[in-house]
Amino acid sequence: YGDYSQKIDYVFKVVLIGDSAVGKTQLLARFSRNEFSLDSKATIGVEFQTKTLIIDNKTVKAQIWDTAGQERGRLIVIAYIKAFVGRRILYRAVTSAYYRGAVGAMLVYDMTKRQSFDHMVRWLEELRGHADQNIVIMLIGNKCDLGSLRAVPMEDAEEFAQRENLFFMETSALESTNVETCFLTILTEIY
Ligand code: GTP
Repeated sequence: YGDYSQKIDYVFKVVLIGDSAVGKTQLLARFSRNEFSLDSKATIGVEFQTKTLIIDNKTVKAQIWDTAGQERGRLIVIAYIKAFVGRRILYRAVTSAYYRGAVGAMLVYDMTKRQSFDHMVRWLEELRGHADQNIVIMLIGNKCDLGSLRAVPMEDAEEFAQRENLFFMETSALESTNVETCFLTILTEIY
């Protein structure tokens, strides 16, 4: 904290997206504070954390945004905005603001929930519809500590990632597996 003398060479905005309860908030907590909680509450609206890293002798400040996987979570924010325009327009405005300026994205699914993987197509569509063309995208199969409950074969994810030109990694926020690596990979790639 408070070391204002530190020179920041780059600030990168990275967004986390994916269905509710896949572990976005916990991946972020693990990466930014090395914390994990089993009774994590659903995110309402948008939160973000920053972490400063040294990559190639440059100081890179990663600004990682986490939003509600549930549409309801985002709609609550919108409910506070009193306006005469339609709800759909507001929803889109908030969504665009979330993606604006992002140079990296993490598309997270829960490897024990097939549906969360099947929805990746839709999340990718939303991402490509709002984000910059050159955004670096990583597909993340979280909860790999629950290997015995696997519902998404690694090959399916690899094939999807290859077809859509995404990086791919399996992680566990609980056991800290690959969390640092996946954030570092995406930040290095952006850099
Ligand atoms: P929304 O905020 O609703 O979009 O959910 P989210 O994607 O942020 O999920 P969150 O991080 O809140 O995690 C949901 C649940 O999964 C919590 O009970 C977490 O403790 C649990 N969880 C997250 N990551 C892991 C993991 O790697 N392994 C295991 N076993 N559980 C995890």
